[in-house]
Amino acid sequence: MNVSSVDDVGGLLDSNRYMADRNLAVVIYLALSLCKPLFLEGEAGVGKTEVAKVLARGLGRRLIRLQCYEGLDAGHALYEWNYAKQILHIRLAESVADPNGRAATEREIFSPEFLIKRPLLQAIDAGTGDPPVLLIDEIDRADEEFEAFLLEVLSDFSITVPEIGTFSAASPPIVVLTSNRTREVHDALKRRCLYYWIDYPSLEREVAIVRAKVPAAGDELARQACAFVAGLRADSFYKHPGIAETVDWAAALVALGTTALDDRSAAETIGCVLKYQEDVRKARDSDLPARVDRARRAAVVPA
Ligand SMILES: Nc1ncnc2c1ncn2[C@@H]1O[C@H](COP(=O)(O)OP(=O)(O)OP(=O)(O)O)[C@@H](O)[C@H]1O
Ligand SMILES: [Mg+2]
Repeated sequence: MNVSSVDDVGGLLDSNRYMADRNLAVVIYLALSLCKPLFLEGEAGVGKTEVAKVLARGLGRRLIRLQCYEGLDAGHALYEWNYAKQILHIRLAESVADPNGRAATEREIFSPEFLIKRPLLQAIDAGTGDPPVLLIDEIDRADEEFEAFLLEVLSDFSITVPEIGTFSAASPPIVVLTSNRTREVHDALKRRCLYYWIDYPSLEREVAIVRAKVPAAGDELARQACAFVAGLRADSFYKHPGIAETVDWAAALVALGTTALDDRSAAETIGCVLKYQEDVRKARDSDLPARVDRARRAAVVPA
């Protein structure tokens, strides 16, 4: 699918069952048309990673994912030499008394055949077809040095492997960066990107997501579950439930044959939405039936 307007992006998200408000469609459209990386920040489980997956699926592009973590270095993000294969090659060359000699063997083992391309190089060396979607997931988990390095890569989309030469992207990939904001990402990196904060969805949107993902959940149950989760998010818990938790919870309630939220079903399944013992205890101790009651009332559609 090609997109040439914000409405097209909205259609692409819709047809891939990603419910977004127009502001997100606008920023995605701008990222695509201005060829700028898209920086998505938000709490856990609000649909940041899913944006990249949906874009790749909807545009028919390959998705290349770089999962960031503490200690991630250029070797794991860019390329590595396949040492095992190199050593095997050297042994073989020695055993057959290769007439090409040592220099030739050395040239061979530093050729593309022995290069393991990691996500950034894969995205840059993706050939001349439609560029892939490069997802740089959870950049806030990587160290600041890696961020500085990434800045360089994102500014010219070319990478030099000293033994081989320079790889340059025929056309830059569509880049989506995500962050849970466990630490602030540098302004310099943000400046290169279009920034968007993905908030928890409105009640209506979360109901639409639940209904799309768990069609067996009736409107009433979906609304009650979403209203209950919205109530949890408004209180202080160690870890608030994301959209995935709401969807899983709705599926669990359906599996138990629940058609409307009640005290018992909420108590039995609270572990689907709260994943820390302290949070579960707090929810139980803070009058679970009252929460259920509030959710049931908030879920009533005004006549
Ligand atoms: N707007 C949406 N429409 C449909 N499904 C959504 C939406 N937002 C999130 N989801 C669903 O919620 C789940 C969590 O989304 P995702 O993994 O993208 O969250 P995230 O923000 O990347 O979370 P984390 O910070 O934990 O990585 C996915 O299964 C996704 O399908
Ligand atoms: Mg994610």
